[in-house]
Amino acid sequence: MTIGQYASDTAKWLDPELGSVFSDEQKEDITVKAALYSLNAGGKRIRPLMMRMTAGMIGCSDEKMADVLYYAATLEMIHTYSLIHDDLPAMDNDDLRRGKPTCHKVFGEGIATLAGDLLLNTACERLFKIALSKPEYLYASYYMCKNAGLDGMVGGQSIDLDSEGKTIGLDLLYELQRKKTGALIESAVVTPYYLIKGLDEKQANEDITAGLLRKLAGHIGLAFQIRDDILDVLSDPSILGKNTGKDERDSKATFVTLLGLDGAQDKLSGEIKAAYEVLSALEKAGYDTNGYKVLTDYLEKRDS
Ligand code: IPE
Ligand code: IPE
Ligand code: MG
Ligand code: MG
Ligand code: MG
Repeated sequence: MTIGQYASDTAKWLDPELGSVFSDEQKEDITVKAALYSLNAGGKRIRPLMMRMTAGMIGCSDEKMADVLYYAATLEMIHTYSLIHDDLPAMDNDDLRRGKPTCHKVFGEGIATLAGDLLLNTACERLFKIALSKPEYLYASYYMCKNAGLDGMVGGQSIDLDSEGKTIGLDLLYELQRKKTGALIESAVVTPYYLIKGLDEKQANEDITAGLLRKLAGHIGLAFQIRDDILDVLSDPSILGKNTGKDERDSKATFVTLLGLDGAQDKLSGEIKAAYEVLSALEKAGYDTNGYKVLTDYLEKRDS
């Protein structure tokens, strides 16, 4: 299968679930309208796609797959919230996202801020709700929540903003990227495994396959953000769906601003190679890694 086929299957699978998050009555609320505007604006759905790949790789009953879908929609809500806030004038001040005007350009800054808050809060409600009826998911819910916080996305965004206009070391740049983008990608790659196996924290930390999946997520998460940094320089808004040249404009710390395009490309190739090494370890352990190989190749060369 090609990445395009995986992507269209993912959209068909995910979109009805996203459409049912808010009731018709709730959809009358302006903040809900703003949240749905961004949620349905045409993102790549790469994190839900990864969740399907992990589920496919380890094998999954229909019942568990319905729960993977529930978590995939929840993660896409957290990711969309992060984008709405990332685009606000107080953060990256961008006016184009997913090929459309950003949330605050259409709904104003106040409602866009609330739309992000609403997506995060609703995501947390969902994470609690499912764990109330299925306590074996408690750690998976906690893990998805934690990866969005200070040890994850928010922590990375904090370093990102604090590093504007500064020259930072490579170690801090790795930490920034690992947290701001890597953490949600880790949620995508790893959470389906925790769910399907019903792992608690101790089991998750001791499980060999879980360790390999976390390692894989680390490499593809970094590859994803390095390619994002490269596309900010090389791509075009009509293909990318967001404006380009923003990192240079804002004196952001990225692999490109720190190491140049060739240096960034070398790091990207290194992460792709490392991802392949983890995939062969997973293959030796008996898992079908064909889906992840297609994804890894796409991450190296994607143009949007
Ligand atoms: C953009 O994420 C923000 C980063 C973490 C680099 P995506 O490139 O996955 O954005 P969408 O969901 O396709 O819009
Ligand atoms: C943002 O990184 C990652 C998030 C946590 C939202 P960027 O600021 O580079 O993302 P883009 O380029 O605006 O999508
Ligand atoms: Mg940003
Ligand atoms: Mg940005
Ligand atoms: Mg970027």
